[in-house]
This record gives sequence, structure tokens and C-alpha cells, in this order.
Amino acid sequence: MSLEGKTALVSGGSRGIGRAICLQLAAQGVHVGVNYVSNSTAAEETLAAIQKADGTGFITGFDVADSQDVQKKIKEIASEHGGIDILVNNAGITRDGLMARMKDVEWDAVLNTNLKGAFTCSKAVMRGMMKKRWGRIINITSVIGFLGNGGQVNYAAAKAGLVGLTKSMARELAARQVTVNCVAPGYIVTDMTRDLPENIQEMIKAQIPLGTLGTPEDVASATGYLASEESHYMTGQTLHVNGGMYMGN
Ligand SMILES: NC(=O)c1ccc[n+]([C@@H]2O[C@H](COP(=O)([O-])OP(=O)(O)OC[C@H]3O[C@@H](n4cnc5c(N)ncnc54)[C@H](OP(=O)(O)O)[C@@H]3O)[C@@H](O)[C@H]2O)c1
Repeated sequence: MSLEGKTALVSGGSRGIGRAICLQLAAQGVHVGVNYVSNSTAAEETLAAIQKADGTGFITGFDVADSQDVQKKIKEIASEHGGIDILVNNAGITRDGLMARMKDVEWDAVLNTNLKGAFTCSKAVMRGMMKKRWGRIINITSVIGFLGNGGQVNYAAAKAGLVGLTKSMARELAARQVTVNCVAPGYIVTDMTRDLPENIQEMIKAQIPLGTLGTPEDVASATGYLASEESHYMTGQTLHVNGGMYMGN
């Protein structure tokens, strides 16, 4: 599934699932842009890991929800690295709480990063992809967008919204051979889930037929497939990587 000569941008590539996606794409020969918002040390660690595995890449810091900065940084990347062929909209946050007590700032922060961020980054890269008549946009949604979850109305709405965004973009861009798909992870061990109390982790495992939480690499390999040439006839789809906890579509 070689992608030699292509350039990618992975939002939130500094840690967790994003870091594993950066390493996966680099292993497929991609020149990888590692995005972060605040943790530049983690972004440097990701780039060092890419280089240690004989890959190449660069670091780019910006907030995906800041559309002006997104446009500026993606323009700079295009002129320095020859355009972005693969965009992975992975940056995401949670601000959990029951809806009755949820504040507007918690709603806005989650929608802005998880959903608007995918819109701003995709908008900034799509023209270049359309011109080249080749592109891959992969949105990292969540099983929560399909199942819902008490305490996560903001996150579930953002992740379900990503699926609608993906299907509509897929229809708009198909004529130019740009595909747009989702990967929907279940529970994956990262900074986002590491601190869940032991009893909650046990409750989660009981709902997973394969019996364990997933790893960032499990999500990265599905993403690597959607980025590859081999996936060219798939668009508007969601690949579920969740140990069987949700089997619908
Ligand atoms: N972990 C799971 O179980 C799970 C399950 C389903 C879906 N997901 C989704 O998978 C994605 C990655 O999750 P994760 O668990 O790897 O999270 P994580 O370990 O908390 O890492 C989040 C990443 O997003 C970046 N980020 C956050 N806000 C940003 C912003 N405004 N602009 C740019 N980058 C931003 C962070 O950058 P800094 O390093 O600079 O903070 C970091 O690289 C998210 O979209 C998440 O919703 C995760």
C-alpha cells in the first residue's frame, strides 16, 4: 500500500491515535505533517519516531478551529512541501458532563475542535486535491457518534456530524477522484481514555466482544488502508475499529 511521493497532514498528530497514524503513513512512504495545538514536545517526539523509522516529515502547530490560521498554515505547507495529498482530521477533545449541567463553552469547544476543525482543514486542502485529481480525506469519528453516550452529548453530536460531513463531501469531490471516508474507533488506550476509573474500564470491556480496548495502531492501519491507492473505489464510508462493540453502519 505504498504512497511514495505523497504528502499528508495529520491534525493532532502529536499524541495518541494521531501519532500512530503519522507513523503508519510514514511507513507507507508518505512525507508526514505532524500537527499539534499546544504540546510541541510531543509533536517533536512524533517526528523523531518517524525519522528513526527512516521516514520523513515536518511539524506544523495550529488550532484546527481557527479558520484563518488553518488557511495560512496550509498555504505555507503547500508552497514548502508541494501540496497536501492526504488529510487526516484526527484532532479531538472531550468536555464530558450531563446535559443538564453542560455549559455553552463545553459544547462550543467540542464542536469547534472535533467538527468545525474538520471543515476548516478540509476546505483549506480540497482545492489542491481537486486540481491534482487525487486526494484522500479521512475523518476520525467515534463509536459514540453511532451509539450515543450519557455525559457526552457534545462529543456524540460532533462525531455523528462528522459522518454527515463525510458523506456530503464524498459526493461533492468524487468527480475529481478525491475520496472522503471515516474511521470510527471504539475504546482505544490513549491519554483520552487512560484515566478512566478501573470499574468503568471493566464495564467497557464487558461490552466488547473481543474483550480488550484497542490500540492506536489498530486505528492507524485502517487509516493507512483508506489513504492507499487500493481503497480508491471506497468513498463516503465508515470503517469501524471497535472490537465488535458496534456492528451496525
Ligand atoms: N481514544 C479513544 O478511545 C477514541 C475513541 C474514538 C475516537 N477517538 C478520536 O480519535 C482522535 C484522537 O484521539 P486520542 O485518543 O488520540 O486523543 P489524545 O491522545 O487526547 O490526543 C489528542 C490530539 O489532538 C490534538 N488537538 C486537540 N485539540 C486540538 C486543536 N484545537 N487543534 C489541533 N490539534 C488539537 C492534541 O494536540 P496537543 O498534543 O498539542 O494537545 C493531540 O495531538 C480524536 O478525534 C478522538 O475523538 C478516540
